[in-house]
Amino acid sequence: MRAVVYDAYGPPDVLRVEEMPKPAPGPDQVLVEVAAASVNLSDWEGLHGTPAYARFGGLFRPGRRVLGSDIAGWVDAVGSEVTRFRPGDAVYGDILTLMGGFAEYAVAPESALAHKPASLTFAEASTLPQAGPIALQGTAAADLGRRVLVNGGGGGSGSFAIQLAKQAGAHVTAVDNAGKLDYMRSLGADEVIDYRTEDYTRTGPYDLILDLVARRSVFAYCRALARGGRYLCVGGPVPRVLAVLIGGAVVGGLSGRRIGLLLVRPGPRYFEQLADRCLAGEIDIHIDRTFPLDEVPEALAVHGEGHALGKVVIDIAGRAREA
Ligand SMILES: NC(=O)c1ccc[n+]([C@@H]2O[C@H](COP(=O)([O-])OP(=O)(O)OC[C@H]3O[C@@H](n4cnc5c(N)ncnc54)[C@H](OP(=O)(O)O)[C@@H]3O)[C@@H](O)[C@H]2O)c1
Repeated sequence: MRAVVYDAYGPPDVLRVEEMPKPAPGPDQVLVEVAAASVNLSDWEGLHGTPAYARFGGLFRPGRRVLGSDIAGWVDAVGSEVTRFRPGDAVYGDILTLMGGFAEYAVAPESALAHKPASLTFAEASTLPQAGPIALQGTAAADLGRRVLVNGGGGGSGSFAIQLAKQAGAHVTAVDNAGKLDYMRSLGADEVIDYRTEDYTRTGPYDLILDLVARRSVFAYCRALARGGRYLCVGGPVPRVLAVLIGGAVVGGLSGRRIGLLLVRPGPRYFEQLADRCLAGEIDIHIDRTFPLDEVPEALAVHGEGHALGKVVIDIAGRAREA
């Protein structure tokens, strides 16, 4: 099979297409013929080996040679203990623990997969598994009249988070680079902020901050929160994440605010909820661009360098637009 591989952390040009043996599923695993794989920030992080948690699988060399965690496709084969799927089923899921989605075939734990709704294309379905749980769990506290800020709102998870918070009746402020401000308004954001020219922690105060790309100090988050407000860190450089983990509890506790990490619970139980909202017409899926497998380096560059509005999708074999 063809796969996009890499052997050293670095920029997108360390990636190359290579012929590899088709993987074999373990007893509780499913082999998926991948139709579409969406790009997440975690792919960019795994490519560069930064933040440091992205080297979890291999400190000096990538532990997994093939990136790609959000997939949609057809079941090709199942392990002996798999009960919910059979060859030919259309499925989608998040294989972050194994990676390998930027390839013609990928192995997935049975527990990571769900049956793909017939009315979603494979490309659309591939946008939901990782970004969906982040956005749903990150906006669970959004409510009528609450002031919610989404930092990193123009990306994959942020695009869903803005819409979910808005639907919950919140007043939504979205932060991202200048090229994404109109896009975030189109998703329903009431206010938008360009992070390159304005420090959002000097605006507010907010009742809920969902931070997809933590870059500020715990004191700055405290300043931006209303009393009783909540800050949730989803990702960012390790020193920032550790500062939130350790200092957030102390600073938050002393100031009557809650500052902490959002450890996202992954899996079908969560991303299927978002799929249902999409099918009901409540939430839109935004695919900025689709690239063929050979152009995974370009796709990662477009996404990682800040040019993508919403999601970027890899069309593995020219069938991602099929439902
Ligand atoms: N906590 C958990 O359990 C868990 C689980 C899975 C994933 N994650 C993390 O979740 C995050 C979700 O990422 P995603 O896939 O939604 O990312 P994404 O699609 O890349 O979106 C991130 C957005 O943030 C913007 N951004 C970059 N730097 C910024 C800054 N300083 N201030 C404001 N916005 C900024 C980016 O724009 P530019 O284009 O300008 O860079 C981009 O639009 C990742 O950090 C990932 O590691 C966490």
